[in-house]
Amino acid sequence: MLLEINHVTKSFGGVVATNDVSVSVPEGKILSIIGPNGAGKTTLFNLITGAYMRTSGTITFNGVKIDTMKPYEIHALGVARTFQNIRLFKRMTVLENVMTGMHSRIKARDIESFIPGRSQKIEAEITEKSMEALKIVGLDGKYAEYGAALPYGQQRRLEIARALVSDPKLLLLDEPAAGMNINESAELLELIRWINAELKKTVIFIEHNMKVVMNVSDYIVVLDHGSKIAEGIPKEIRNNPVVIEAYLGTKKEGGNADA
Ligand SMILES: Nc1ncnc2c1ncn2[C@@H]1O[C@H](COP(=O)(O)OP(=O)(O)OP(=O)(O)O)[C@@H](O)[C@H]1O
Ligand SMILES: [Mg+2]
Repeated sequence: MLLEINHVTKSFGGVVATNDVSVSVPEGKILSIIGPNGAGKTTLFNLITGAYMRTSGTITFNGVKIDTMKPYEIHALGVARTFQNIRLFKRMTVLENVMTGMHSRIKARDIESFIPGRSQKIEAEITEKSMEALKIVGLDGKYAEYGAALPYGQQRRLEIARALVSDPKLLLLDEPAAGMNINESAELLELIRWINAELKKTVIFIEHNMKVVMNVSDYIVVLDHGSKIAEGIPKEIRNNPVVIEAYLGTKKEGGNADA
């Protein structure tokens, strides 16, 4: 398994955001996490990336126990993410935004920049890799524009480029299609499939649109009120009465309120 989440609980005071959740993610697969608003989906990403520290349980990535590590250490091991509420640097260009995604790679090589000629070489390499990532998401023609000036759907793609540039093993996408129209989300779906198949990235993504989820996922995990209530391949989840009940039982379903 590439990622093993083992009986993980996360409490905020009295709120149990993640309740004894276990998830195994095999390498090379696309796994989606679904569930009503407030189910604990984003919290799970925050636990995997080290943004939050689990209250109990263990998380292992690629054989390494990561649940007490710092975010930059986990990033350096090959875990990259996008955010539900887009987080771009407003005063940076599209290219510069992508370059920031290399931070954990650059750090390890800081020392090299003291060797004459190396610094420029590293800079050129980072630029080249960033342009490659932009090409993958179809934004290479916009590299000199301000990230914040892009249309919403393109900002989401820019976040994916920033996550890809560090060449992660695992890519976490938090509602990447939120706010997109039908065409944009269909294109995004193709992109996610391509990233998985061609770049061999393992992908976990959070999504509310069931059609998208059923289409793209190898495996689905369903959360509700912090607990895992179901998991399985799409056809097992589609008609699962427990899952249907969880969705019908919530009034805010399909909302994209930023957490
Ligand atoms: N930093 C925090 N402090 C306190 N409570 C939090 C914090 N982060 C999350 N929570 C709570 O944990 C629960 C799960 O939130 P989370 O954002 O993980 O849900 P979600 O499944 O991503 O929902 P959505 O579909 O709306 O994005 C919520 O009750 C939320 O209020
Ligand atoms: Mg969320």
